[in-house]
Amino acid sequence: MTHHHFEPLLDRAHAHAGDFLRTLPQRFVGARAGREEMIAALDGPLPQAGEDAAAVLDLLARNAERGASACAAPRYFGFVIGGSLPVALAADWLVSTWDQNAGIHVISPLAAALEEIAARWLLDLFDLPRDSGVGFVTGCQMAHFTCLAAARHGVLRSAGWDVEVDGLHGAPRIHVVASAEAHVTVDVALRYLGMGTRALVEVETDTRGRMRVDHLRDILPRLQGPVIVCAQAGDVNTGAFDPLRQIGEVARARHAWLHVDGAFGLWARTSGEKRALADGIELADSWATDAHKWLNVPYDSGIAIVRHAEDHRAAMTSTAAYLIQSRGAERDAVDWVPEFSRRARGIPVYAALRALGREGVAGLVDRCCARARQFARLLSAEPGVVILNDVVLNQVLVRFGDDELTRAVIAGVQEDGTCWASGTTWHDIAAMRISVSNWATSEEDVAASVAAMLRVYRRLRSGA
Ligand SMILES: Cc1ncc(COP(=O)(O)O)c(C=O)c1O
Repeated sequence: MTHHHFEPLLDRAHAHAGDFLRTLPQRFVGARAGREEMIAALDGPLPQAGEDAAAVLDLLARNAERGASACAAPRYFGFVIGGSLPVALAADWLVSTWDQNAGIHVISPLAAALEEIAARWLLDLFDLPRDSGVGFVTGCQMAHFTCLAAARHGVLRSAGWDVEVDGLHGAPRIHVVASAEAHVTVDVALRYLGMGTRALVEVETDTRGRMRVDHLRDILPRLQGPVIVCAQAGDVNTGAFDPLRQIGEVARARHAWLHVDGAFGLWARTSGEKRALADGIELADSWATDAHKWLNVPYDSGIAIVRHAEDHRAAMTSTAAYLIQSRGAERDAVDWVPEFSRRARGIPVYAALRALGREGVAGLVDRCCARARQFARLLSAEPGVVILNDVVLNQVLVRFGDDELTRAVIAGVQEDGTCWASGTTWHDIAAMRISVSNWATSEEDVAASVAAMLRVYRRLRSGA
């Protein structure tokens, strides 16, 4: 096999990628095809002899037009979804090209060094303890898993129990305290870790969705044994931050491990304007975040950060006779993540951070927040449209009249295709969720999206 085998196909993929990216900002934002159409276009018996590789690529590209949504586009506001910075996408291509197994240093000093540096830069950027452990995982779900595995190790070690050797059978029971608004991925991580969702003790939230510290103070003295508190920086609906300094102080006094879900909110630490929201976040013991959301690197890219590097390493490390692991300063990723063989997913993070710099990251965060405020300002000027949340970050919750009309507007906006936003139920009422997380979203994108939303709303309200 020579480069002749690769180049025509890579050129073709490049051309398809160019077509996709060129039309991305203008195209219908949702996916237009459903399962039936996709299966009809793509299914068939597994080829016996195999097909022409260029034709396979063309088939993929052709079907991305209708089957893929433009979730990387500047007018996609569903869930919390970033696009890809050009440099991050290009670096990701190189990661696939190099095809390094980035599990251990000996296979790829390049990948290990880039992830070591990216880890250091992130700790600097977030201003978190510089000797924390950092793992590049697939997303915030696995970042929770990694951080809570370290927490499980740490709190049980303090109770004289080695969970890595003895497991959870017979171990002191761990209580996990989290607010009613905690993201579902925290529950899932607890299930994966054998702690079970029944380990959860729920703390009430205030009207903005923030953990009530008075309730946390009431709860903690009633719990026997090891405790992990899970707080959040950036609620998935409202963008609200739990009162992290107070929670940190209360958790420390109880000798509880404090874990923070900062899937997108941790990035507020990088902005002079927004940093105060995350005040006290540095008191935590672990932090989970994503790079595929606000840093705008391609999927899949999450980050687990643990203050106590030894607990982190103890919970994750793998050793085997055939592995050649580093003894010195070299970084073996297997020590910090659940994966064994893995893609060098820290490299696009490195590229994005290097190309943006400190100011670029802060600018990206500030710009998205300004666009969210623009949404709130323009939408709330319309009679009958109400912004339900305090727009502190990049999330906006909008109500159009009543529940029924709100749901109809969401469906109508998705059908219109100018932009895409999803729905939620916030404190028992229907709302549209708008999340501005894309590096390329402009004022004009927001204005065009608001115009589309109001067009749909007015039409439905007038019964037309
Ligand atoms: C607050 C919060 N936590 C956790 C997650 C899970 O992140 P991921 O989908 O990257 O696993 C998300 C978003 O999906 C989120 O918004």
